[in-house]
Amino acid sequence: MPAALAPIRVGVVGVGRGRTFMNARHLGFQLVAVCDTWEEKLHEEAGRWGVTAYTDYDRFLEHDMEAVVLANYFHEHAPFAVKAFAAGKHVMSECAACHTPAEGVALARAFEQARDRIYMFAENYPFMAYNQEMRRLYSSGDFGEFKYGEAEYVHPDPASVKNSRSCGVNHWRNWLPWGIYYCTHALGPVMYITDTRPVKVNGFVVPYDYTDASHTLGARRTDIAGILMCRMDNGAVAKILQGALRGHGNYTRIHCQRGLLESCRHGGDGQMRVRREPWEKPEGVPNEVVYAPDFPQHHREATAAGHGGGDFFTLFHFAEAIRSGRQPWMNLYRGLDMSLAGVFAWRSVLADSAPFEIPDFRQEAVRRQFENDHYTPNPLAPEPYRQPASILGDIELTPAGLAQARQDWAAVGYHGE
Ligand SMILES: NC(=O)c1ccc[n+]([C@@H]2O[C@H](COP(=O)([O-])OP(=O)(O)OC[C@H]3O[C@@H](n4cnc5c(N)ncnc54)[C@H](O)[C@@H]3O)[C@@H](O)[C@H]2O)c1
Repeated sequence: MPAALAPIRVGVVGVGRGRTFMNARHLGFQLVAVCDTWEEKLHEEAGRWGVTAYTDYDRFLEHDMEAVVLANYFHEHAPFAVKAFAAGKHVMSECAACHTPAEGVALARAFEQARDRIYMFAENYPFMAYNQEMRRLYSSGDFGEFKYGEAEYVHPDPASVKNSRSCGVNHWRNWLPWGIYYCTHALGPVMYITDTRPVKVNGFVVPYDYTDASHTLGARRTDIAGILMCRMDNGAVAKILQGALRGHGNYTRIHCQRGLLESCRHGGDGQMRVRREPWEKPEGVPNEVVYAPDFPQHHREATAAGHGGGDFFTLFHFAEAIRSGRQPWMNLYRGLDMSLAGVFAWRSVLADSAPFEIPDFRQEAVRRQFENDHYTPNPLAPEPYRQPASILGDIELTPAGLAQARQDWAAVGYHGE
């Protein structure tokens, strides 16, 4: 941070993932408050940083600070962001930006009312070095227009690891069709590299597997993987895969009119491949190159950060946006585009994979059509709005699964239902 600049006072909500954003002095932030309803963990974190602890979000918002980072539950970010704007704060929000269309509408309106407040969507995967390199190459124009893409976020874990991250039968990780809703880590890179947005989606799932202990020995009752087939606004098609399939990895593949950009599936972390066809490549340019690119800036600091450097750049761009007064690339509307792709892909899954348009909440006329649309697979939602959480209907938990989950929850200090 340049010496003359005053630090940006920031508060963080959620002391799980939120811890990533607490140590950000080198980027110009000063942590001043933390908020969580899990008191034991809250006080541990507040003590570590010597900052004020709040269990009540409304009280937290009264704290003297300019910015808040929302790392609370996946499906509760939008109402928290709306309140933060009303309190005059800049907002960086973890994924998703909204969980229902109605929430997305309310968020877009609150953002526009707040006028000069910054919203940064904290989608970090686009900022991995190879994704930033693909963006640089794509925007040079040398490869021509984006035609077809694939991106993946495949994340299997043993049941006990999953249980320790999803304490409580109705924790969002236990009911969210996350192969579909958790699409921003794969869709984000495609949008960032190609500057396109998804306009239509077909959703598919790989159903829950009653014979796989990594799913059954816990409280999860959602399908194991999801695929979004997206039509982008330039006519390109992108296949977006996420889920708990075996074969952990992230992947991005961008086919363009005059070449291919992709991250390598093996052969060392962070490698990518650039391919041009021999009959049309410029003279002197190699047919194919495989290399591990540096970050375009701040390589050393980013290399030390989590999620392939992505965690450095979300905070970096948030600080830049606040200081310059210009919204970041990963702005509110792109956060909504990515999040709504998941919302409408789930509707597609439930409609035998029929295509659904992804509404553009930049337009108030479009927003009006969705302002009362509260449908969600959240089991706690009021009945008229409840959708199933699996394509197989309601997945019954087994006594053995619940017993294992309770044991794993207790091991991390959770003793509730
Ligand atoms: N971008 C990434 O790489 C990445 C990685 C992990 C998690 N995440 C996201 O971060 C968010 C948090 O995930 P997590 O892994 O920490 O798990 P989590 O969702 O279980 O943790 C959220 C925390 O928020 C607290 N909380 C819930 N309601 C609250 C309220 N009303 N007021 C104050 N605090 C409240 C909970 O007690 C918990 O400590 C999720 O949206 C998740 O998708 C993103």
